[in-house]
Amino acid sequence: MKEKWEQREALKKTLLVLLALFFFVFVLWAQNDQPPAKAPAPEAKASPADSARVNPVKPTQESLNKGKKTYVIDCAMCHGDKGDGKGDMASDMKNVTDFTNPDALKNRTDGDLFYTIRHGKGDMPPEGDRAKDDEIWNLVNYVRAFAKK
Ligand code: HEC
Repeated sequence: MKEKWEQREALKKTLLVLLALFFFVFVLWAQNDQPPAKAPAPEAKASPADSARVNPVKPTQESLNKGKKTYVIDCAMCHGDKGDGKGDMASDMKNVTDFTNPDALKNRTDGDLFYTIRHGKGDMPPEGDRAKDDEIWNLVNYVRAFAKK
């Protein structure tokens, strides 16, 4: 009889220890789950100097052809072959810029567009170091041309 009682007490103790352990793990997990304080990404926005940058590449047919080459590979899946913002990946995103709308880029300088393409914006990934400056300027020219067609 006494043996049984001892067994039961041991079981209770084990359960209590387990419970405490669960609680402890839960507290740790809950702490981890809190969103980390997010510092704004450095240079998330174009500085006045970035905006003021002048496009050194004239929108010649050659520039547009080069821009198109990169665009088809890196941009069309979101912005669409026609620049209307309806690429295959666009359905997951709310606000892919429609380049065929003349108002879309009206208030943007070439420097702004350069900055967005280089650094990304919202859901748009950055070109980063993949592209040389001239390639990005070609893209700026190509993207602007959609509204003129
Ligand atoms: C993964 C989808 C995606 C890809 C790939 C992508 N974009 Fe975008 N792009 C977006 C979205 C979304 C926006 C709107 C961003 C915002 O305003 O928050 C945008 C905005 C822009 C704008 C407008 C910027 C402004 O200042 O309003 C330009 C120009 C642009 N993209 C060019 C490009 C070019 C050029 C490429 C290829 C090198 C490209 N994008 C690739 C999703 C994409």
